[in-house]
Amino acid sequence: MSPIFAVHYTLPLNGSKDRFWSNDTVEFTVTGGDITKSNADAVIVNLFEGVTAPGGGTGAMDRALGGVISQLIQQGDIRGKSGEITLIHTMGKVPTPRVIVAGLGKQKGFDIDAVRNLAANAVRFARKPGIKSVATLAHGAGIGGLDAEQCAQAIAEGALLGAYRFLKHKAPDENGSEITSFSIVESDAAKVPAMDAAARRGVIAAEATNFARDLANEPANHLNPTDLAARAEALARETGIEFEVLERADMERKGMGSLLSVAKGSAQPPKLIRMGYRGRAGEGWDLALVGKGITFDTGGISIKPAANMEAMKADMTGAASVVAALGAIARLQAKTNVVAIAPCTENMPGGNATKPGDVVTAMNGRTIEVINTDAEGRLVLADALCWAKELGAVHILDVATLTGAVTHALGDACVGLMTNNDAFCSKLEAASALAGEKTWRLPMFKEYDEYIKSDVADQMNTTKKGAGAIAGAKFLEPFVGDTPWIHMDIAGVDNMPADKGWIAKGASGYSVRAMINLALAMAES
Ligand code: BES
Ligand code: MN
Ligand code: ZN
Repeated sequence: MSPIFAVHYTLPLNGSKDRFWSNDTVEFTVTGGDITKSNADAVIVNLFEGVTAPGGGTGAMDRALGGVISQLIQQGDIRGKSGEITLIHTMGKVPTPRVIVAGLGKQKGFDIDAVRNLAANAVRFARKPGIKSVATLAHGAGIGGLDAEQCAQAIAEGALLGAYRFLKHKAPDENGSEITSFSIVESDAAKVPAMDAAARRGVIAAEATNFARDLANEPANHLNPTDLAARAEALARETGIEFEVLERADMERKGMGSLLSVAKGSAQPPKLIRMGYRGRAGEGWDLALVGKGITFDTGGISIKPAANMEAMKADMTGAASVVAALGAIARLQAKTNVVAIAPCTENMPGGNATKPGDVVTAMNGRTIEVINTDAEGRLVLADALCWAKELGAVHILDVATLTGAVTHALGDACVGLMTNNDAFCSKLEAASALAGEKTWRLPMFKEYDEYIKSDVADQMNTTKKGAGAIAGAKFLEPFVGDTPWIHMDIAGVDNMPADKGWIAKGASGYSVRAMINLALAMAES
């Protein structure tokens, strides 16, 4: 099978360093053959909880090792629990020097998410000196009974997402190791071509996610709106998609007073990025992906407390995600027309900054009383949504680290969804689930409309009544009108405290693969 080269989009930022993160290039392949013959530096096999006599590829490896795996099961050293990883040194019994037995957990309830997470955890475990090449069974496709193509894609995603680290600003670690080749070994050669194609899709989706992670992890002094636009432009060049940036003067001409009100306090010029991918004949945009791009959120005049403010370098995760997703949608040649829009600016205090009580006017003429300058995401999104409508998008999805309140509601377990269209939202829910990304819908009852009413303008940018996440969505709703629309509040999940399965510590990459899957699903219907 032809190797899949995982090519990172990232270009040098300042030209000062030539390494960006750990897994610059991983050659990913699907090959037909006998896993016991693999001479990779490590071979990953698997075991369901409670199985005492392993079958399939794990059974074959057990026999080749003279029954070591079943003996370890008998001794109670290997139990097959989810997340359990056991390293066996093969000492010349088979060509590979190491066999890693990864626990699949209980067979009941086993699903594709478990496969993706297992691949991620196993790759993290395999990050040891001496391990450059890894071969693995197609976990889940054997006794697990899952679809072999889905497993191949999930393993590719898990491996690349699990290998991710943001090391750009750290000295190289001499004890570290980078996996440079990863292959799925499938015993049934007839299945290999389809699995290879599926793994290729997984690589593209994971690469896009890692690209978004890189942008979100980047400190704000290394990634201001101009830098973000440059990184998006490089991606657009590489994937051959349309690219355009509206400058401050363009925004003024368009009457984007809401977006501009946020940029006023910053010395950095705002950038409104637009990228377009046309995968079908004909004009029009089937889907607009709109991402909040605050490259640093101090809160502005309503300044944030110092504790954890550094996390606000990632307040452009929505922008990073829509840009990255569009690149992948183009690489996957989805048969649909998708536009990505990212309003990018810093939110800073300063002599020229917007003040609480100021009234600003968005592109559609609606006036907004800015009660709290820290509720800036909705202000930049308002004009971006107006522009998406002007461009003729027939579905709009916005992604934003919008509210701390969504964390109060849902924690870091899932994305908060708010919508004006159930059918469209169901599609995104299915697309997210396929990606292993959890979502939960919050209500948009008309009772919440009054939460954002203002005495002096058409609406205000905060609420005094609670339900902060919903109030954020209610703020946005008038800017999309009747267009089917979903608001994804990713503020609870964009930054994670620890590695966990496919999720990486720091920028998690949440929403990228959901959007890719949504575009693919919309292309089919
Ligand atoms: N970027 C923040 C939301 C956020 C908080 C994201 C924590 C990730 C982690 C947003 O701009 C913000 O400051 N929201 C305010 C809104 C409030 C002033 C109505 C918030 O949630 O406190
Ligand atoms: Mn804010
Ligand atoms: Zn913000």
